[in-house]
Amino acid sequence: MKNLTAFLILCLALFSAGGHASETAGLSSVKIDVFDLDAIQRGAGVYANYCAGCHSLGQMRYSRIQKDLDLSEAGMRKTFMLGDAKLHDSLKTALSPADGETMFGVAPPDLSLVARSRGGDWVYSYLKGFYVDPSRPLGVNNRVAENIAMPNVLWGLQGIQEPVRSELHGESVITGLKLVKPGSQSVSEFDQTVRDLVTFLAYVAEPSQLQRLPLGKYVLFFLLILIVVFRRLKKEYWKELH
Ligand code: HEC
Repeated sequence: MKNLTAFLILCLALFSAGGHASETAGLSSVKIDVFDLDAIQRGAGVYANYCAGCHSLGQMRYSRIQKDLDLSEAGMRKTFMLGDAKLHDSLKTALSPADGETMFGVAPPDLSLVARSRGGDWVYSYLKGFYVDPSRPLGVNNRVAENIAMPNVLWGLQGIQEPVRSELHGESVITGLKLVKPGSQSVSEFDQTVRDLVTFLAYVAEPSQLQRLPLGKYVLFFLLILIVVFRRLKKEYWKELH
């Protein structure tokens, strides 16, 4: 019985390890649901309008998105396929790395895996973390990624933020951001937009999780049934020897 209890505890521990929450200072945590196909689709639309001009998603093909979201080719074209892209193309950007470097000093990176390498909380906080900073070449800085070269492409939706500073050990540090000029979306609408975008990027970073995660539950259930069967078998075999 002890072994069985230990195994069940191990299963529970493995289950709960899946939903890790990062609590790094300065980051806001975001709850996303990669099974929310509507959120992925909305996020893909925002991505096509605001990000695809500079960033590629080289590991993802339109055809995969079409299959996972169960969309028609016409629906795909309308929502987020660029120009004359073909369904089996990967999501490239029209901006060449050389042009990117000339414009921003560094080529915009491919974002296929960013939701895994940085984590959803980081990407969410980053996209909401731009503030006015006249000392920077583009007039903006970012609370999560200081001195990053990316312009604040979502400012029209979010509005303009200024830093709130406090003195800490004689140094002026940013303790928060405040909205000084509203954008076209309210604060909660913008939160939703960024959450959708992060959901889309989390899906892109590992599309197979849509199939893998539900399958995992069946596998564990199957293993639990096997334990019961094998325990009974063991009892049966050892009965004679006791
Ligand atoms: C006008 C070009 C441009 C657009 C449009 C743009 N970015 Fe960027 N982005 C950049 C550049 C340049 C960098 C690299 C900055 C650096 O490393 O200093 C960057 C960096 C990033 C990073 C940081 C990657 C990392 O790991 O350091 C993320 C995340 C990101 N962009 C997401 C987005 C998203 C999401 C959108 C759409 C809402 C977007 N970007 C739109 C130019 C752009």
